[in-house]
Amino acid sequence: MAFFTHHVCRGLSTSAARHVVIKHVMIIGGGQMGAGVAQVAASTGHSVTLVDTSDDILKKAVKGIEGSLKRVVKKKFADKPEAGEEFVQKVLQNVSTSTDAGSAAQGADLVLEAIVENLKIKQDLFSGLDKLAPAHTIFASNTSSLPISDIASSTNRLDRFGGLHFFNPVPMMKLVEVIGTSATSQETFDSLLNFSKMLGKTPVSCKDTPGFIVNRLLVPYIVEAIRLHERGHGSKEDIDIAMKLGAGYPMGPFELSDYVGLDTMKFIMDGE
Ligand code: NAI
Repeated sequence: MAFFTHHVCRGLSTSAARHVVIKHVMIIGGGQMGAGVAQVAASTGHSVTLVDTSDDILKKAVKGIEGSLKRVVKKKFADKPEAGEEFVQKVLQNVSTSTDAGSAAQGADLVLEAIVENLKIKQDLFSGLDKLAPAHTIFASNTSSLPISDIASSTNRLDRFGGLHFFNPVPMMKLVEVIGTSATSQETFDSLLNFSKMLGKTPVSCKDTPGFIVNRLLVPYIVEAIRLHERGHGSKEDIDIAMKLGAGYPMGPFELSDYVGLDTMKFIMDGE
């Protein structure tokens, strides 16, 4: 039985909003993003079930989480290595794995999807889970480029569907874009905002528009840098140096696009 409470939260407004307290999280996709979110959620006391298509992928994902946690504690517990090791073990105990999304969804307050960036595959996944997950379970996608409303349209829980867009590497990057569609209920939206805060992140509220906020501004800038280079107006190295030293950016546009991945960049551009 899922742990599920209604909680009254009082913000700056005078009206009290309700939100679901998310304790049990199922994350589908144990790749770069899914494993990162699993690490952060488990580190902040949530119980996490990580789901992927094979046990081998899941083993690799958990190994990756362990390695990343060890790097974190090396700094955080520099003078208390035993306490650091204890922390790592405690966090890892919060993570279980499964290749069966349907049964893993049974106990979940939140299902967060971080699988391949393909609308049909995401829709098929959610439409199947919609029939199996408890009624209160909130569904969210970490998509970078697909409309949340298109993914949600495969389900009958449009009011309990939103976007949670994390940034790579998840343990380091503070921002989460919380996306509500026109059908997302206020309760669901507040639950996602609150969950992001519980992870130690800073959420911003976004509409379901292409690129949300960050990629809407970032991707055209990177594409303009590529055009500048293609027209022979600057070398890649000079453009990167110019933006680092002239605009104070931590990475130049070419370094950044290599980091994000050219495939992901193309998906985002196609959506804009
Ligand atoms: P990835 O390729 O590292 O991981 C995807 C994982 O999903 C793989 O382990 C794959 O085996 C698994 N998978 C694929 N289909 C599945 C299915 N039907 N059921 C269960 N597992 C399945 O991808 P990455 O980079 O983690 O991206 C995942 C999502 O997050 C995408 O939607 C992407 O657009 C988004 N995103 C990516 C960012 C990035 O910088 N890489 C940043 C923010 C969002």
